Amino acid sequence: MKTTHATQKNILITGATSGIGEALTKAYVSQGHHVIACGRSQSKLAQLASAKPAQSQVEQGTEQGRISHLCFDLTGFEAYPQLSAEQGELDLLILNAGDCEYIDDALNFDAKKFERVIQINLISVGYALQAWLSAIKPGGRLVLVSSSAQMLALPRAEAYGASKAALTYLAKVLAVDLAQHDIEVSWVHPGFVETPLTDRNNFAMPMIVSPQQAAEHIISGLEKGKREICFPRHFIFIMRVLSWLPFSLWRRLARRMTKA
Ligand SMILES: NC(=O)c1ccc[n+]([C@@H]2O[C@H](COP(=O)([O-])OP(=O)(O)OC[C@H]3O[C@@H](n4cnc5c(N)ncnc54)[C@H](OP(=O)(O)O)[C@@H]3O)[C@@H](O)[C@H]2O)c1
Repeated sequence: MKTTHATQKNILITGATSGIGEALTKAYVSQGHHVIACGRSQSKLAQLASAKPAQSQVEQGTEQGRISHLCFDLTGFEAYPQLSAEQGELDLLILNAGDCEYIDDALNFDAKKFERVIQINLISVGYALQAWLSAIKPGGRLVLVSSSAQMLALPRAEAYGASKAALTYLAKVLAVDLAQHDIEVSWVHPGFVETPLTDRNNFAMPMIVSPQQAAEHIISGLEKGKREICFPRHFIFIMRVLSWLPFSLWRRLARRMTKA
């Protein structure tokens, strides 16, 4: 679809310097939208801004996409910038930044690790909501990138899984409470996506998709107005079936997975 000045969207994306956020940023810019890319590395943001789509990829008559950026650490509330008048009202606020650290020894629980993961995956989302929710224009949409991990009690995911289960709950409650303000809410449940976050995993990651495929799923889900965006379909189906098992049976399976 051609993007004209009237249809050009203003989109803020956190975690835009890598993985899913980077792919979303590039896809939206190549469609002619304005993306406010958030990251904590000035050099990665500068690189992102210089990676403009090739002229051949831009349809004739399409508004030129552009990137502006905000460089700060999302875990410090004081650092959140107000959006300028030039950045305008938001059509889409995509809170995507996140991290994963596993709890390797549940008996000797690492509270600092737990705090770090909850801080970036959940508390920073609260900060972003206070700072930017009111910048979403009526008819606009808030998007929280959660994870399919929240569907199941996965081994070593005490911190990551808990943060994402809470995030999905938060998104659903916001969908109820923001409806009266004409703001829609979507939550995203990806399976495995090949990014620096999963490059650290030393276990099998079935049906893994590329960040570009992840971005396509998210963008097309949002275009259709979907609240819950889950992908890839077969992986989510398996996760759903496993989540319906009696817990004692799932626990036996999960323990066998960790021993394998
Ligand atoms: N990859 C998967 O398989 C998968 C599956 C399900 C859900 N997800 C979720 O998808 C989202 C994106 O993940 P990804 O795989 O694309 O990860 P990624 O490649 O590691 O990217 C994470 C992004 O978040 C930013 N970030 C992390 N901590 C930050 C902080 N304190 N302040 C500011 N920015 C911060 C990173 O910035 P830097 O570049 O500065 O580190 C980076 O831009 C996460 O919420 C993740 O939980 C991923």
